[in-house]
Amino acid sequence: MNPQTTHVFHRHLHAELPVAVAAHGVYITDRQGRQYIDASGGAAVSCLGHGHPDVIAAMHAQIDRIAYAHTSFFTTEVAEALADDLIAHAPAGMSHVYFVSGGSEAVEAALKMARQYFVEIGQPQRRHFIARRQSYHGNTLGALAVGGNQWRRAQFAPLLMDVTHVSPCYEYRDRQADETAEQYGQRLVKELAQTIDRLGGENVIAFVAETVVGATAGALTPVPGYLKGVRQLCDRHGILLILDEVMCGMGRTGTLHACEQEGVVPDLMTIAKGLGGGYQPIGAVLVQRHVVEAFAQGSGLFQHGHTYIGHAVACAAALAVQQVIRRDGLLEACRRQGEGLAQRLQARLGEHPHVGDLRGRGLFRGVELVRDRHHKTAFDPALKLHARIKREAMARGLMVYPMGGTIDGQQGDHVLLAPPFIVSDGELDAIVDRLALAIDAAIASTHA
Ligand SMILES: Cc1ncc(COP(=O)(O)O)c(C=O)c1O
Repeated sequence: MNPQTTHVFHRHLHAELPVAVAAHGVYITDRQGRQYIDASGGAAVSCLGHGHPDVIAAMHAQIDRIAYAHTSFFTTEVAEALADDLIAHAPAGMSHVYFVSGGSEAVEAALKMARQYFVEIGQPQRRHFIARRQSYHGNTLGALAVGGNQWRRAQFAPLLMDVTHVSPCYEYRDRQADETAEQYGQRLVKELAQTIDRLGGENVIAFVAETVVGATAGALTPVPGYLKGVRQLCDRHGILLILDEVMCGMGRTGTLHACEQEGVVPDLMTIAKGLGGGYQPIGAVLVQRHVVEAFAQGSGLFQHGHTYIGHAVACAAALAVQQVIRRDGLLEACRRQGEGLAQRLQARLGEHPHVGDLRGRGLFRGVELVRDRHHKTAFDPALKLHARIKREAMARGLMVYPMGGTIDGQQGDHVLLAPPFIVSDGELDAIVDRLALAIDAAIASTHA
């Protein structure tokens, strides 16, 4: 693609992108015939890999039956079947699914649903959302407002609703030397409690958090007990807990929902990327029964909606993805290959002078880069180390998902890895080998 001649308004107006023409399994092929290992599943999307025959067949069959019916006129068999499937495997208490077309839409729907819930139950004074710094919840205005990444928010700040942000759970940087992980988690819960008290518990709608932080901080996992403490605090004040599992959910961390590993059930949970695995744009909000009942006994109408919600082909693709994951034991594979990936990263990069932290769960792994391991100092943001790593990785036939601003939206660099659950041992070897070479080449280029 030539940036001078394209009519597509690309993300970067000066970048020369390769043209993807085919994809199969963990590989994407460009027009020049170069193959790339998709070690990030795009942006943690392609859980089954590319070109899965069962998903393609399900989409073909659905198109032949009915591709689209507007949800204010009809429901479809396939949307009902997908909702049944998702609720059958959801945490206890979840009873309904609100379908949308992606992650930001799921977050927007969850925010509005939470607000309207309190209107329905006679608490219209609730108007505050609390979320965390260094989180990412999407790029639409509501989702961007709850997101806590300064770089993404800065130029849109005058348009964003007022949201209160508390500390992320970032053990590598923020746990003090004399604290256990549990004590650190309780300190964070205390900070949230103080924030709620300052706003007035009766004025807060919801606390919003990614169960495992993805794009902006690189697979930050919660410390033991932290989310349980958050859940108890929310319950004490009647505040809803919204967990955003758009990136970390649908099997990515080794369990279908990342919150299963925390023993916590949110009131609303957003899911997207791995739901449709990239075969169709689809997201959803999983909703607890008590929230649905408030709507049913109140106005009977969620004042929201988009043209493409519950799209039949998107639902067919997502249903097929979920069925294949179960049929082929891919959650187990994700856990096993995730351990294999962690071990390879540890062996190859564990003692690397510029790797500060290796973290994550399942096939959702983060590598945080530092200039100095001892002091955990970041590289100069002006060097854009993350962009150099992406370039060097692509030159070696490897797709990874690096990002800058890991620490505070400005400082810090990390690489996120999220390969398909079908990744083989040999492919894991190649991923870690190419990544290590790309990191070294990128760092060497900063001295040039
Ligand atoms: C946790 C989280 N929430 C929301 C979103 C937004 O999803 P989308 O890009 O599909 O709108 C993302 C995307 O990366 C995400 O990681």
